[in-house]
Amino acid sequence: EKLPVSVFKNPKEASISVAHRIAKIIQDRQLNNQHAVLGLATGATPIAVYAELVRLHKEEGLSFKNVVTFNLDEYFPMGPTAAQSYVYFMKEHLFDHIDIPAENIHIPDGTLKLEDIPAFCLAYEKKIEEVGGLDMQILGIGRTGHIGFNEPGSAPNSGTRLVTLDDLTRRDAARDFGGKSNVPTKAITMGIGTIFKAREIVLMAWNQKKAPIIKKAVEGEMSSEVPATYLQLSDNVEFILDEDAASLL
Ligand code: GLP
Repeated sequence: EKLPVSVFKNPKEASISVAHRIAKIIQDRQLNNQHAVLGLATGATPIAVYAELVRLHKEEGLSFKNVVTFNLDEYFPMGPTAAQSYVYFMKEHLFDHIDIPAENIHIPDGTLKLEDIPAFCLAYEKKIEEVGGLDMQILGIGRTGHIGFNEPGSAPNSGTRLVTLDDLTRRDAARDFGGKSNVPTKAITMGIGTIFKAREIVLMAWNQKKAPIIKKAVEGEMSSEVPATYLQLSDNVEFILDEDAASLL
């Protein structure tokens, strides 16, 4: 069975379409006085989605007062003010420019003591459930086939946990950190199982360099070697691609 794939002319058009779907969820929930619960991702891929959401807030009055967010992952260890932190990224690209209440924002905490991580991760899962589960999870994809930081070997039912980063992932992050040796070796990430519970999953990818992994994720045999292939099991997933990322399908 083939996964639903939508191919757009360019990343901008694709991003605007994803942003408008998110805005629709927020507005539908507002009409019913409910929270909209969003699972958010970092990396270059979703930047234009966040830019469009900021534009909708500033120019069209979209409010985020009823929005609760859970980010997929954070490096470990990582302080929130470091330029490479996902806390910093989210503030810079989204949270500092919208009216979301600070207490509604959740990002895995890169400052925990090692022994406190398991309890934090269980509480993270519990909080997602308490607010009613994720309405939509947006995802990028790493060249290892990771979603969040679920690297090869991740179990399909995995929960939020501390993981070890793949060498290729650390090489891809080296530029942001001024060298691979500065890239943390670990991260805290939502699990594949956590992502799967979202009512909608949208995986985005742009660029020629993502074409090989997109081919594997969409058409390859399901395997823990390419964690994104587990998405083939989901009835609620959609791949949103530009022509370059879709070019090997
Ligand atoms: C990081 C993030 C992932 C992201 C991936 C791809 O590893 N933890 O969530 O999907 O990078 O990044 P980019 O969008 O910059 O290609």
